[in-house]
Amino acid sequence: MSNVAGLITGLHHITLVTKNQEVNRLFYTRVLGLRRVKLTVNQDDIYHRHVFYADDKGTTGSTITFFEWPQLPYGHVGLGSPHHLSYAVRKVEAIPRWKAWLAANKVPVTGPYLRNNRVSLYTRDPDGAIVEITTAAPEDVASDYLMETELPSVGSVTEEMRLTVFDHASPISSDHSLTSRFLEKFIGLKTSYVRKNPDDEDASIIGVGNDEKADFLLYLVYPDTPDGFVGLGNIHHIAVAVEDEADQTRIMRRLNAAGVGNSGVVDRLWFKSLYFRDPDGNLLEIATEGPGYTADEPLERLGERLTLPPWLEPSRSKIEARLSELDSQNPADWPPPYRPPPQPPERLWALMGASETAGL
Ligand SMILES: [Fe+2]
Ligand SMILES: [Fe+2]
Repeated sequence: MSNVAGLITGLHHITLVTKNQEVNRLFYTRVLGLRRVKLTVNQDDIYHRHVFYADDKGTTGSTITFFEWPQLPYGHVGLGSPHHLSYAVRKVEAIPRWKAWLAANKVPVTGPYLRNNRVSLYTRDPDGAIVEITTAAPEDVASDYLMETELPSVGSVTEEMRLTVFDHASPISSDHSLTSRFLEKFIGLKTSYVRKNPDDEDASIIGVGNDEKADFLLYLVYPDTPDGFVGLGNIHHIAVAVEDEADQTRIMRRLNAAGVGNSGVVDRLWFKSLYFRDPDGNLLEIATEGPGYTADEPLERLGERLTLPPWLEPSRSKIEARLSELDSQNPADWPPPYRPPPQPPERLWALMGASETAGL
């Protein structure tokens, strides 16, 4: 059996579900300062959009993507429906600036919190997905230091505030040793630590990663968690990166040899994908780093117009007609009525109540 240790280089993209791509676009571009790098359709459901946001260059690990499925009900976190994602910023000085900027945009925000050597803020997007903004905690930062800092006045997302790449994604595990063994044996990721959840002393957290980054997957462990439901406002799947298709194929062979169900390699034009589920039903993807978002558009024009893979071009007029029909039934409502952010943010059960399924 081929050796798969160390093949995964980090996170590639994270995909969620949105009710309205226009409201979503305003949030992720105007408020969070990302760039739309691809406007396309869901290749497995071609009459619905798939939009991608990333840093200016579309760097691997900076991309958040959304399926627009307005007819889907709101979902809830649980097994198979990951809890949150986290973007990294370079310096701790960016944290109070983000707090001020989010508040100025009337976006609810909690934090900063100092935990696991990180300083983090938590907010929600218009569909209710939890987005963390985090940075490594400086050694001399005191737990109450940032709370005491007077908020600066911030009129835009400045260069020092820029979201860079994902710091981590947090699915839920019902059994830390099963999750660790699965990820190590079949896709070559190693568990760096098992710790108490700082927000919930009855629960634990496992950090999973590689030699470069110890915990780009930060599983929240809750043995008795019920299944989640992936609907609006939830993470649909988490993609990790490999350098090329040869590495992807090595992992696929490993999955096949062990009888782990998977999609086989699927050509997504901008990368190749391989899908499977972890033991708790969380949908994971292995994606190749290339060829990247410039495969079909120049860097300076990324995401401006609806782009389709060549095999869908013959259906373009039908697709465009169906999308505008969808838009007329799904008007953009900006500013959206945001749900408050979770308190405390990484405590799962605080999120499992009625408010989670009540919509916005
Ligand atoms: Fe987190
Ligand atoms: Fe994906």
